[in-house]
Amino acid sequence: SITQKVDSLLNLMTLEEKVGQMNQYNGFWEVTGPAPEGGSAELKYEHLRSGLVGSMLTVRGVEQVRAVQKIVVEETRLGIPLIIGFDVIHGYKTLSPIPLAESASWDLEAIRKSAEVAASEAAASGINWTFAPMVDISRDARWGRVMEGGGEDPYLGSKIAVARVKGFQGEDLSHPLTIAATAKHFAGYGFAEAGREYNKADIGTLTLHNIVLPPFKAAEEAGVKTFMNGFNELNGVPVTGNEYLLRDILKQKWGFEGFVISDYASIEEMATHGFVKNEKMAAKKAVQAGVDMDMESYSYVNELVALVNEGQVDEALIDDAVRRILRVKFELGLFEDPYRYLDEEREQNIIGSKENHEAVLDMAKKSIVLLKNENNILPLEKKGQNIALIGPLADDKNSPLGSWRIASDDNTAVSVLEGMQKYEGNNLVFEKGADLVNGRVTFINELEFNTTDKSGFDAALEAAKDADVVVMVLGEHGFQSGEGRSRTNLDLPGVQQELMEKVYEVNQNIVLVLNNGRPLAIEWAEENIPAIVEAWHLGTETGNAVAQVLYGDYNPSGKLPMTFPRNVGQTPIYYNHGNTGRPEATEMVFWSHYMDVENTPLYPFGYGLSYTDFSYDNLKLDKEEVSVSGELNISVEVTNTGNYDGKEVIQLYIRDMYASVIRPVKELKGFELVEISKGETKTVNFTLTEKELGFYNAQGEYVVEPGEFQILVGGSSVEGLQASFNLVE
Ligand code: IFM
Repeated sequence: SITQKVDSLLNLMTLEEKVGQMNQYNGFWEVTGPAPEGGSAELKYEHLRSGLVGSMLTVRGVEQVRAVQKIVVEETRLGIPLIIGFDVIHGYKTLSPIPLAESASWDLEAIRKSAEVAASEAAASGINWTFAPMVDISRDARWGRVMEGGGEDPYLGSKIAVARVKGFQGEDLSHPLTIAATAKHFAGYGFAEAGREYNKADIGTLTLHNIVLPPFKAAEEAGVKTFMNGFNELNGVPVTGNEYLLRDILKQKWGFEGFVISDYASIEEMATHGFVKNEKMAAKKAVQAGVDMDMESYSYVNELVALVNEGQVDEALIDDAVRRILRVKFELGLFEDPYRYLDEEREQNIIGSKENHEAVLDMAKKSIVLLKNENNILPLEKKGQNIALIGPLADDKNSPLGSWRIASDDNTAVSVLEGMQKYEGNNLVFEKGADLVNGRVTFINELEFNTTDKSGFDAALEAAKDADVVVMVLGEHGFQSGEGRSRTNLDLPGVQQELMEKVYEVNQNIVLVLNNGRPLAIEWAEENIPAIVEAWHLGTETGNAVAQVLYGDYNPSGKLPMTFPRNVGQTPIYYNHGNTGRPEATEMVFWSHYMDVENTPLYPFGYGLSYTDFSYDNLKLDKEEVSVSGELNISVEVTNTGNYDGKEVIQLYIRDMYASVIRPVKELKGFELVEISKGETKTVNFTLTEKELGFYNAQGEYVVEPGEFQILVGGSSVEGLQASFNLVE
């Protein structure tokens, strides 16, 4: 068995070799974080040769991976193969939509498939392991990394986490086209205070257990092979050194058997946080807390041997970490053949294949959310129209690829302009209007927005003036979200708002196509622009997906996985909040509200339109009283009453009216994505059991309390049919 193999190998290993397995180095350049002081390519090579490296990240491509693998296999005493990690976040070379966009599909099979495609390309490039999925729940659109996650809701987030883990890992980890996955960032990183990157997270026990942890638990139950801790502190303790999270919850309570990797340099950063005196104490805290592998801190390789020899760290902790790492290497089949993922022909055939392009196009269409469509301005006529296409992102082939795309080539997206040009029946005129960004745009540098140059406005207005319809592609650059990209503003950056308002003065028949990696506050557009299409950053096939939706060859069905605020001051804003003691408006000011903007969001969680309409009828519960150990069956009829075939995400929310701790006013507890032809009615069934009706109390224990519940079934978190039932002992 693998356990026996792991144990016999462990018996042969010196302490130095064990610690080596716990050490991961970046490729020999700065890619996803700064190079550490004192580090150098020569030192890394030296450590590779002497068995002091267990893993590398961002080395990629069969040739390069073979080169480093060969060093450890041929030159180290035991020849233990490296496990090669990489941030495969939304595709490898052929890019699918950013994860937040994919989450808007609510299509779990499509999301699984997208991860499978990403895994196949990465594996064909020699990679064994992705640092994905990011399953951090976040309620704060200011945080740049919301683009990487499943949105604000733990139920949807958990389902998506499972779909992604299954997609990456497949049925058999040793298959040459599957890779190990990582649930990250354990835990609380998404609650960075004020949305500022790497900031602290203060999270109460109820939010921790009911909101933050569930997607991690779901990933663990789905068999995810690794966890990554975050950069953040949680309630005063850096999660890298957080024994409660890593040992008590993850390894003991949940019984996780895989290994935990630190985030990039997060071990030594515990000293910078002010949690430990120096790197040595950082290494001690991290290993005691349960971090098994050190990503690019050098702390383990520098300090662990001495810590064990001095009796400060129990060697049993090292053995446990190494066992976990070796197990995953065995499961990947790396011991059977360290070069099993390294096949030039496979690399050639799989990466960028036609099938992969088709798969990411399919995912891209499914990710689009129709936010507004007054007077059915969409879909566009296919023939005989004068269309003005305007906006800095309309012809951009780079931005739509989104953030976190280290292996893909720049400027390889199909732009919206190119996508629309394929529909030849119209007269299409393009005018950019303005640039979005000045100068260099890369994954690692700060962006500088164009806030002054409006020299293209006149030409854009000229094009818009006589057009039958104006399509404006505006939003955030693909590198304006992601790690290190927090914002205090959620508006359209640069001169885009001004451009839109000027165009509106000459032609009001506008379709706004948004490109963005987070919810934006676009209240003016919602009030004035007749049609708004949320197109996120959709990856390689962006323009084709957008054009097919605009021209009605695809009927959009996406629903928002995150609430869109009216303005940034409302953040954090989320649908599953508490009621407060004063929720209702009164004549006096003493109720829970703002003076200057209403409480409701601009677009709620779960919201999204279609070119057709759906009506909900006959909500039925099979009983009025349900016992705690029983189940409640719910059915609803949904009819497509419009003129197009379409898909609808039918959502079930519950409200626990009173409990020993306050429960949210709404909680998603079921959803079904259903295809319904025009004129057709479908019956959709849901079941609620104690799994959906309970919650974690302040001690982190799962409890199910009898009492009164309300339910809502509909097409978003704010509309639908209501009913109620009692939960009894
Ligand atoms: O996987 C990432 C992580 O999400 C943020 N820091 C760097 C890691 C490796 O690139």
